[in-house]
Amino acid sequence: MDNKHFYITTPIYYPSGKLHIGHAYCTVATDAMARYKRLCGYDVMFLTGTDEHGQKIEDKAKEAGVSPQEFVDKIVAAPGGVLDLWKLMNISYDRFIRTTDGYHVSAVQKIFRKMYDNGDIYKGSYKGKYCKPCESFWTESQLVDGKCPDCGREVVDAEEEAYFFRASKYADRVRDLLLNTDFLEPRSRVNEMVNNFIDCEGGLQDLCVSRTNFTWGVPVDFDPGHVVYVWLDALFNYMTALGYQNNQYNDLEKFWPADVHFVGKEIVRFHSIYWPAFLMSMDLPLPKKVYGHGWLNFNGDKMSKSKGNVVDPYLLSERYGVDALRFFLLRTFPFGTDGNFTNELLIQTINVDLANDLGNLVSRTTAMAEKYFGGRLPVERQANPELDDSLISLATGLRARYEEQMEKFQFQNALEEVFKVIQRANKYIDENAPWALAKDMDANGVRLAAVLYNLLEAVRICTVLLTPFMPESCEKIFAQIGADAAAQSWDSAEKWGVLPADVQVRKGENLFPRIDMSKELEELERVQEEAKKAALPAVEIEPQSGEMVDFDTFCKSDFRAVKVKDCQRVKKSDKLLKFTLDDGTGTDRQILSGIAKWYAPEDLIGKTLVAIVNLPPRKMMGQESQGMLISAVHTEKGEECLNLLMVDGKIPAGAKLC
Ligand code: ME8
Repeated sequence: MDNKHFYITTPIYYPSGKLHIGHAYCTVATDAMARYKRLCGYDVMFLTGTDEHGQKIEDKAKEAGVSPQEFVDKIVAAPGGVLDLWKLMNISYDRFIRTTDGYHVSAVQKIFRKMYDNGDIYKGSYKGKYCKPCESFWTESQLVDGKCPDCGREVVDAEEEAYFFRASKYADRVRDLLLNTDFLEPRSRVNEMVNNFIDCEGGLQDLCVSRTNFTWGVPVDFDPGHVVYVWLDALFNYMTALGYQNNQYNDLEKFWPADVHFVGKEIVRFHSIYWPAFLMSMDLPLPKKVYGHGWLNFNGDKMSKSKGNVVDPYLLSERYGVDALRFFLLRTFPFGTDGNFTNELLIQTINVDLANDLGNLVSRTTAMAEKYFGGRLPVERQANPELDDSLISLATGLRARYEEQMEKFQFQNALEEVFKVIQRANKYIDENAPWALAKDMDANGVRLAAVLYNLLEAVRICTVLLTPFMPESCEKIFAQIGADAAAQSWDSAEKWGVLPADVQVRKGENLFPRIDMSKELEELERVQEEAKKAALPAVEIEPQSGEMVDFDTFCKSDFRAVKVKDCQRVKKSDKLLKFTLDDGTGTDRQILSGIAKWYAPEDLIGKTLVAIVNLPPRKMMGQESQGMLISAVHTEKGEECLNLLMVDGKIPAGAKLC
């Protein structure tokens, strides 16, 4: 057993408050993989953790009026934070690293110094573009439409003295690694990396690996004022957590190189280009594989806190159970590509796979064992190869088919194989019609016993293989079908006849109740909308533009008090109101304004408002508007609010505002 080690990692998460289902996706996949390997007999190290340095954290801590360390300490352990979510999702990690842990910090300092000593880190000066949220420097040619190629946000000009890592030196070796080995999967991501970052104009650029514009990072110990770039700091977590350059742990020999790093597609670049280059520089073995999974969108849109469309794992697991949610994530979306999360899909998967197929099979089988034999099967059974063999061979061959898919991280396909057997077993019930056999127990009791025993064996094998995905539910199924530890083992999953001949069955609770789709969808949407509103800020005000307008230009704007003589809705428009205004000139002024959502026309008659009167007239819905009414806008709990500026009725119509 000594060489059966398996080391798997998730990305280490930014402690950025409440996490969403997209964050949980990778960790649930890693957990299923780790549980699978443990069942196969491997000594597994499953590492996860938090990535706690950088300017974003420093800024947020400042905003909150606490030190960065206090800030991350609080957020890592907060409800909805990383530790809390992993507990909820039943994540069986073996080790948790925080990049602020002392052993990691001093190890990173040693690593930085070694790379400096071997000439791969040198001091230079940086001039280019900087993306603050990503904490990344870019050259002009790397920008996409002038924006950050990673996140699409605005970049700013930056110039500073900095240390650089000689990535260019490793370009050929990294290209070879990507093109000629299975290091990066899925293979579809390889060309993107090579073409965009290695064989691009100018080739692989040296990487800026220190910062001086903030202090919350690992200090470069030989050059005060510089802190190590978060990605160099963060990537080495995979090794420091095993004891590399520190005495906290001592598992490096056993677990390094890692078998696989699971990472989201947007951080494949760091893991497949810079990470191997850093390791080459340090003359260390490379991880065996980086697997870049896809993103989960919600209703076709990218999940993002600011859009308020993040899917809350707490809400869903409370309604459907953690196992159903874990199962859904890995059963529905191919791991390597993007997936579109919808409430319909979730409920449909629960209903079809869990309630109809698996739940039904377990409850029918255990119910019949109780009804016909009081829960204990008789030892005497009568086989019927014609009816039994196809089920038996499909079920005993399942483990091999499942393993083939799991080894390729094709969770969806592995589960598909399990459900083929579950569906076959349900069909076996119909083919054998146990209820008909039960009508004459003297003649058919022995056959009925065989049918039920075969069903229990099929359930048992499927349950062993479902354990990595739904550990708690599988434990309950094992209890219902009377499977002891030996009958739950990996070895037993390719054997038939493992349950004792006189197995004791106990029908338990219905594990996956069927959900009323239309009622539940309505309710779920209502609850999600409420949660979204509650999470939105109470009042949001648009930031000031900062762009100056010269005084003379401003003075040209003619603002006047205007009195509403009449106000009506514009036909065929649900937005526009038409105002007839007294502007002090003696001639009525007509202004159209898109404020029907906020005001009833009759409420505005007689009010004194503010208008800009020297805008060129323009047509709206075929009618002329001679100016614009001024209003104040802000956002409240995500809703746009608008208030017309009203002035004291003592101010005469036409008075100039200045
Ligand atoms: O990237 N669907 O941390 P992070 C799928 N600290 N995956 C998603 C997702 C979604 N909608 N949203 C986020 C970092 N993720 C770094 C990692 S590793 C040395 C440093 C995934 O908290 C994302 O792809 O921003 C990433 O793999 C993980 O969540 C953590 O993201």
